[in-house]
Amino acid sequence: MSDNNQKSKVVFLKGKKVNLRPFSKEDVSLITQWVNDQEIRDLVSFVFPQTEKQEEEWYSKIGSDNNNIVLGIETKDNKLIGIMGIHQIDWVARVGTTGAIIGEKDYWGKGYGTDAKMQLLNYAFNTLGLYKISSSVIAFNKRSLQYSLHCGYKIEGRRKKHFFKRGRRWDLIDMGLFRAEWLPIWIKYQKTGKVH
Ligand SMILES: CC(C)(COP(=O)(O)OP(=O)(O)OC[C@H]1O[C@@H](n2cnc3c(N)ncnc32)[C@H](O)[C@@H]1OP(=O)(O)O)[C@@H](O)C(=O)NCCC(=O)NCCS
Repeated sequence: MSDNNQKSKVVFLKGKKVNLRPFSKEDVSLITQWVNDQEIRDLVSFVFPQTEKQEEEWYSKIGSDNNNIVLGIETKDNKLIGIMGIHQIDWVARVGTTGAIIGEKDYWGKGYGTDAKMQLLNYAFNTLGLYKISSSVIAFNKRSLQYSLHCGYKIEGRRKKHFFKRGRRWDLIDMGLFRAEWLPIWIKYQKTGKVH
């Protein structure tokens, strides 16, 4: 018999500090909180208010869209702390773009994002067979830049003054990662738990 108070035991990708799992409907209200949070919105591309209904619609679509694979990031004691995904997958070119939000801000800067990203990259390269992963970051978002660089992404270019945030224009930094560049970092990470 199911117990409504029992926390999710679903694990899709098992990491060292986190697990990644598909969302359930009960997660929608927490995700709505995160995507509306002013401090989080400041760091990502969202600008408009998101209603719970919009998030429910998003949730109902993600399960059937294999070109956008989105997973929840959960601590080992089953606390949902964020979202991470591979988006705009092109199955012919075998490329995709990653994005992430750790919505629980107490968990920023403690290695949870790096662990989640390394597990997601392992899935992207070694299960889905993707060839290259891209990501973009607004130039002031040093934490996001840093964790991507640690995971092996290299800066490929800057879209000059491409973003408007904090009352001024900012460059958007485009990054890319090939499996061959990521593999030695993954081997090291599996052995030592460190990416650098
Ligand atoms: C970006 C994000 C997913 C990274 O996850 P995280 O768990 O915070 O990152 P980690 O702790 O694994 O790694 C962050 C790295 O940046 C470093 N860092 C933290 N704050 C920093 C700062 N202000 N300047 C430079 N480096 C910083 C950390 O020291 C760490 O590097 P280290 O491994 O050498 O110590 C998370 O912080 C987040 O969701 N932020 C808000 C939303 C966001 O920015 N999303 C990404 C949009 S592109």
